[in-house]
Amino acid sequence: MYGIVNKALQEMVCADYGGETWQQILLKADISDEFFLSSEAYPDSTTYSLVGAASAITGLPAEQLLQQFGRYWVLETGQRSYGHLLKAGGENLQDFLINLPNFHARIFLIYPNLQPPEFLCEPNGLQGVRLKYFSHRAGLAPFVVGLLFGLGELFETAVTVNQSKSRATANDFDEFLVAWQ
Ligand code: HEM
Repeated sequence: MYGIVNKALQEMVCADYGGETWQQILLKADISDEFFLSSEAYPDSTTYSLVGAASAITGLPAEQLLQQFGRYWVLETGQRSYGHLLKAGGENLQDFLINLPNFHARIFLIYPNLQPPEFLCEPNGLQGVRLKYFSHRAGLAPFVVGLLFGLGELFETAVTVNQSKSRATANDFDEFLVAWQ
């Protein structure tokens, strides 16, 4: 994945636990990069190793860490560096989610070798959507949950997220029922 993902993880861990904890994580993951270049592609294994080591060192289950990271990605990384893209994605949570399947198309302009997730979104009742998430990477459903909570906060909308299908159980996608008040 592009270095911006690893960089953002580093920033989140340093903000929450301090730089010394990050050094322990690098050591445990056997990664020598002192910093990550946003626009350089790194092997996915680097990101997975960092998440695994961060979970071991902080004691936070990997799912919880990924969820926290999803929220951080929207509210900190996204807002700070790509606020205009988030704004262009929709004026409220519902519009943003309906537009989500096209969202990463714009990001190709910044990161041409992006291997983005794919989303399908359909209405589910008057105040909710059924969101399907496809990826060639495994294990990132908790990241999506965190992203959805982050978007809820971004649009000041209380949101519930229930995973209704999982790749872990013989589907080729994860599915979430997202609802708001
Ligand atoms: C703030 C603007 C955003 C930017 C700049 C951005 C950019 C990126 C980048 C660079 C990657 C790494 C992929 C790669 O290197 O091949 C990524 C992955 C991902 N993004 Fe976004 N993204 C943004 C917002 C979102 C939002 C709002 C969602 C969903 C709610 C989302 C869902 C994901 C997921 C799930 C992945 C993991 C990759 C996978 O599933 O295979 N992103 N994004």
